[in-house]
Amino acid sequence: MRTMRVLGTAVVLFFGVVITDAGAEESVDKGRELFNSTVLGKNGKSCAACHPGGKKLEWAATFDDEKLAGIINRCIKQALKGNPLPADSDELKSLVLYIKTFAGPGN
Ligand code: HEC
Repeated sequence: MRTMRVLGTAVVLFFGVVITDAGAEESVDKGRELFNSTVLGKNGKSCAACHPGGKKLEWAATFDDEKLAGIINRCIKQALKGNPLPADSDELKSLVLYIKTFAGPGN
């Protein structure tokens, strides 16, 4: 009986870790991936098609997160014909993180 309970706890813990690890959480890498992929829209374009390597986004990279997120969603809707991402989604947060990497000295 006791072994069963311990086993059960181990299984719950194991799957708990797997599920929370399943790509949930924002990261620069995920942002880069999304930026270069066509999954955000419905017209086969990526952000990189119009902003290759983040060119001309150096200034935007200094905007605060909320403003930047709004602009990103505008481009998703208008330029990619996609659905805007929820404000608290890992996807949107990752894109914000990635775009912030374009800010640099001399920009
Ligand atoms: C069809 C071309 C196109 C695509 C695709 C596109 N954009 Fe844009 N983006 C524009 C244009 C045009 C502007 C506004 C004018 C400008 O900044 O030159 C803009 C502006 C921006 C800005 C603000 C720049 C500033 O300095 O104000 C950001 C940030 C941005 N886009 C991010 C993205 C992201 C992220 C994606 C992908 C989800 C994306 N864009 C997809 C054309 C595009």
